[in-house]
Amino acid sequence: MSNPFTVSMVSWHDGEPLLRAIRDAVFIREQGVPEALEWDEFDADCRHALALSLNGEAVACGRIYTNGHIGRVAVMKSWREQRVGTAIVEALLDEARSRGYPWVDIDAQTHAVPFYQGFGFAAVGEEFMDAGLPHIKMKLELKPR
Ligand SMILES: CC(C)(COP(=O)(O)OP(=O)(O)OC[C@H]1O[C@@H](n2cnc3c(N)ncnc32)[C@H](O)[C@@H]1OP(=O)(O)O)[C@@H](O)C(=O)NCCC(=O)NCCS
Repeated sequence: MSNPFTVSMVSWHDGEPLLRAIRDAVFIREQGVPEALEWDEFDADCRHALALSLNGEAVACGRIYTNGHIGRVAVMKSWREQRVGTAIVEALLDEARSRGYPWVDIDAQTHAVPFYQGFGFAAVGEEFMDAGLPHIKMKLELKPR
């Protein structure tokens, strides 16, 4: 059985230390994204999905901009393949639906394309490099529930 966790939507103001810890471990230390590119001015305006273990350990995160762009989806290595990433994306999609967005998009790292296809995201356009990693834009039309 996989380990239990909870997901909540938080502001940058409330979640910053835990969100920073996850993105520092996954993007900066594991994937080699330069710090100067990881931290930007958009965090303060985004809503963030944050997954915590039952003892409060930071497990995973993701963010959605006010224009429906999703990004920074990251699961701590030891928590992968336990559907935590799925729960993070579902929370972000629920947020988008509750705001009435007709669609969302993401600049997906190419290795994660099958993960996003599982939600119905489809690739648009050509592959491009960002922060030294290959990406492709993916888009998902949302149907009101
Ligand atoms: C990509 C990532 C978010 C997936 O999170 P996760 O919690 O391991 O994914 P889940 O357990 O919810 O997986 C859901 C499904 O996607 C598949 N999947 C997950 N990661 C995958 C990957 N990298 N490649 C292909 N399939 C993947 C799983 O096998 C599973 O398939 P199933 O429904 O057939 O069982 C996680 O691997 C991660 O944080 N990677 C490092 C950071 C990163 O690259 N983030 C993406 C930025 S665009």
